[in-house]
Amino acid sequence: MRIGVLTAGGDCPGLNAVIRSVVHRAIAEHGDEVIGFEDGFKGLLDGRFRKLDLDAVSGILARGGTILGSARLERARLREACENAKDFSREHGIDVLIPIGGEGTLTAARMLSDAGLPVVGVPKTIDNDISSTDRTFGFDTAVGVATEAIDRLKTTAESHQRVMVVEVMGRHAGWIALESGMAGGAHGICLPERPFDPADLVKMVEERFARGKKFAVICVAEGAHPAEGSMNYQKGAIDQFGHERFAGIGTALAHELERRLGKEARPVILGHVQRGGTPTAYDRVLATRFGWHAVEAAHRGEFGMMTALRGTSIEMVPLADAITELKRVPEDRMDEAESVF
Ligand code: F6P
Repeated sequence: MRIGVLTAGGDCPGLNAVIRSVVHRAIAEHGDEVIGFEDGFKGLLDGRFRKLDLDAVSGILARGGTILGSARLERARLREACENAKDFSREHGIDVLIPIGGEGTLTAARMLSDAGLPVVGVPKTIDNDISSTDRTFGFDTAVGVATEAIDRLKTTAESHQRVMVVEVMGRHAGWIALESGMAGGAHGICLPERPFDPADLVKMVEERFARGKKFAVICVAEGAHPAEGSMNYQKGAIDQFGHERFAGIGTALAHELERRLGKEARPVILGHVQRGGTPTAYDRVLATRFGWHAVEAAHRGEFGMMTALRGTSIEMVPLADAITELKRVPEDRMDEAESVF
């Protein structure tokens, strides 16, 4: 079998672990040939690929980013890809394509699969917002980075009697804010799923100061927004990939709190630090298992499916199920987090 693999969308710690696992399983167990398309679907469209043998994936398990490069694809080019989907197998001689990516990539994978290209998807995203899988790799690493940041911010906040507003990634789902906020013991957590009222945060900070705790750390997801009429905040415009450009809720909230409280407040935007660097052991293991199962599914001819973590097992689920709706933080998880602070 000749397998094509690509990484698309935003990068994520653990991508290289999947690539390595696919190559190891495919070559060592099945005697397959593996090629890697460069820069996501762009490489597929432009015919840019290279052979991936055992040497090519040596030493990449712990490396962040992706050795294949990644890119988002404009909608027009995706349509072009779908029109040519059937030709890709013949042109590149591939029997199956394993695209590794988030919601956008899996949607493209589904479209290509419907258009006749044999596809087995592997989900990834630090946001952990893909339904049908309990976890995505990259999330654990991002939560670790954000938790460490909150730990560190507490000591400087306390030294200066400040409020720190730490903004983490999460456009539609607040999983990183929820889990790093809980793990780091943030005093306030704001998620996209539940509009917040800055007045509640002001009250919380004032109560803390009255109790002699003269600092506070608030963890806010980039996609969080204030309840209507509670604060002046303009949403960002939509970019060419259909993504909202964020207007900087962390900075806006820090300024608002400083104004209302009359105390110093500082925004800290973690941004792509959460996506860079070496994956945690958990993410390496999950990514490796996804790669292994993707190859096995390809050999069983289970196309139009993707790998998913269900409990502690890896299962194959239809791509269609994975992309119908995003996995957002449910009410009961938000309630648990609230009871902590
Ligand atoms: O989808 C993953 C993600 O990390 C989001 O949380 C974030 O908003 C986005 O990617 C950032 O994308 P870019 O790298 O294009 O700025």
